[in-house]
Amino acid sequence: MTSPQPATAALQALVLATIEEMIPSDATAPNVQVDRSKAGFSSDFQTPAALQLAKVLRRSPRDIAADLAAKLTPRLGALAEAPDVSGPGFIGFRLSDDALQGYLEALSAAEHLGLEQAGGEHIVIDYSSPNVAKRMHVGHIRSTIIGDALARMGRALGYRVIADNHIGDWGTQFGQIIYAWDHWLDPAAYDSDPVGELQRIYIKFQTEAKEDASLMDAARAELAKLQAGDERNLALWKQFIAASRHVFDAVYDRLGVVFDVTNGESHYNDMLIPLVDKMHDEGRLIAIDGGALAVAFGDQDIERPKRMVVRKSDGAATYATTDLATVFYREQTWAPMRCIYVTDSRQKEHFQHVFSVVRDMDVTTDLQHVMFGIMSSPEGSLSTRAGNAIPLDELLDEATRRARASLEERLPADFDGDKDALAEMIGLGAVKYSDLSNNPASNIVFSWDKMLSFEGNTAPYLQYTSARTHSLLAKAAAAGLEPDGTTLKLADPLERDLLLHLMDFGPTVRAAFDQGKPNTLASWLYDVASKYHSWYAACPVLRSEDRELQISRLNLTRLAQRMLVRGLDLLGIGAPQRM
Ligand code: ARG
Repeated sequence: MTSPQPATAALQALVLATIEEMIPSDATAPNVQVDRSKAGFSSDFQTPAALQLAKVLRRSPRDIAADLAAKLTPRLGALAEAPDVSGPGFIGFRLSDDALQGYLEALSAAEHLGLEQAGGEHIVIDYSSPNVAKRMHVGHIRSTIIGDALARMGRALGYRVIADNHIGDWGTQFGQIIYAWDHWLDPAAYDSDPVGELQRIYIKFQTEAKEDASLMDAARAELAKLQAGDERNLALWKQFIAASRHVFDAVYDRLGVVFDVTNGESHYNDMLIPLVDKMHDEGRLIAIDGGALAVAFGDQDIERPKRMVVRKSDGAATYATTDLATVFYREQTWAPMRCIYVTDSRQKEHFQHVFSVVRDMDVTTDLQHVMFGIMSSPEGSLSTRAGNAIPLDELLDEATRRARASLEERLPADFDGDKDALAEMIGLGAVKYSDLSNNPASNIVFSWDKMLSFEGNTAPYLQYTSARTHSLLAKAAAAGLEPDGTTLKLADPLERDLLLHLMDFGPTVRAAFDQGKPNTLASWLYDVASKYHSWYAACPVLRSEDRELQISRLNLTRLAQRMLVRGLDLLGIGAPQRM
C-alpha cells in the first residue's frame, strides 16, 4: 500500500484550492498554514487562512472564515467533519474516524512507515573529517554523530547518500611531524598509542619551534621532500595516515558509523594547480602581497571586496583551494543535488566564501553548511581544549560503565539477556542523544546525570518506552491477541492525540533532514514517548473487556513501537527489547 498524503498537506491543498476561487484573479493567495490544534480544542488542525485573507478581501476575518468553512465542507468529503470557526477567525478541522482509520491502516502497511521516497538522487554528506596524527576532539565527535544521523535520514528518504569522510591528511604539519619523528619519537609509546604519540611529538615541535626558529626551516625542507615524492617521507606520511585511520575506524565501528568514501584532502592534490590555473585564465584571480593569489568573489564594488587566498606566496595551495577542488570533483563524480558539510561554527565564514566562489563559477549543486556549537560540561572538562584530554573512547567507556551501574539497580534479578551489550547500547545511545536532542547551532552543556536519566528527554527514556511496547505486545500475544493493522476504535481523546502525532513521522523526518536538524526528530520521538505513556495510563489494553478496543490499542502500540525503533535508528541509536 502506498502511504497516504500527510493530513496537513491534504488539508493545506484543499484550503488553497478554495481560497483561489474566493480571491480576485489578479491577487496572490497567502501562504496557507495548517497546524495541529493546541490542547483543549475539539479540532485536530487549525488554519489562520481567513485572517490572512482579510486584507485581500477587505472583509472581517470571521466573515471570511464562515464563508471559507462553508465552501470547504463539500470538498473535505470523507476526510473531515464540517469545519468550525473560533476566535477571531480560525478554522478548525476534525478528521473523521474513517479517515483516521484509513491513516492507521495505510501507515501500518506502508513499507517506509509513511516516509515519502525521493528518486535516488545523490546527496554527499561531508562529516567527521578528523585530522591525521591528531586525536579526534569533541568537534569531530559532534560532526560524526550529527552527520551520521543526517546520512541515515537521507537514505531513509530515498536518496543515494555518499557519506564522505574528508580527513585532514595533507598540509604543512606533515613536515613538522616528520621532523619531530626523527628527533623525539618514543617508539614504545608509538606502539601502544600511535595517534597519541604523534600528537605528542607534534605539540613538542610547536613548543620547541617557538625557541628555535630554525626548526621551521628544517620542517619546511621535510615538507618539500614529501611534496617532491621523497620515498622515505612518503612512506612515513602513509604510515601516519594508516595508523590514524586504524584508530578512527575503531571509533566508527563502535559507534556504528559507516562511510562510503574517505577522500581526504590529499585526494585532491593533483587537482589544485590545474584549478588555480583555470581560475587564473578566467581572470578570477588577483595578485596580493608577496606573490600570493586570491580569488575575488561577491560584490567587488564595496569598500572591502571579498577575497579568498588560493595560492600562498610560497606557491602552496590552501585548505580553501582544496575545498574548491572538492566541490568540482564531487559535482563531476556524482552530480549530487545537494552537498552537506557538517563542522563547527568556526568554519562558517570559510564555507560561505567557498560557496560564493563556486556559485560564481556556475556550480548549481545545493550547498548546505550544517554547523554546530561548542560542547562543555559544568566542570568545564569537555571544553575543546580539555576535550583533547578526554579521548572519545574514554568518554564512551565512561557512559557504558555508568549505564551498566544503573542497569544493575533496575534490572529484575531474573534478567537473562546480555548486560554488557545492553549497557553499551544505552551508554552510546545516551551520548549520541544528548548531542542530537539539541539544536546543532546551540552550545551544549554536557551532564552525565541528565544524559543517562530514564526520565525526561533522554535516550534511555525512549529506549525504555520502546522496551515497554515490546513487553506489552509479548504479553498480548501470549493471551492470543495480535495487532491486525486495521482495527481502530477511538474511545478516549488520548488515543486520537497519539495517532495524530504518529501520523507526523514522515513530515518530521523530512523537515529534520532538510533543515539539518536531527533535534526535530528527537523532540518528536520524545513526544511519542510522553504521549504513549499518558495514553497507556488512561487506556488499559489487556485489562479492557472489549476485544475490538484491545486490538485497536495493540495497533496503536505496534505503530508507536515501530516508529520509536525506526526513529531511534535514524539517530544511530539502538532500541533493546528489554531493559
Ligand atoms: N579536517 C577539518 C577540521 O578538523 C574538517 C573538514 C571539514 N570538511 C571540509 N570539506 N572542509 O577542522
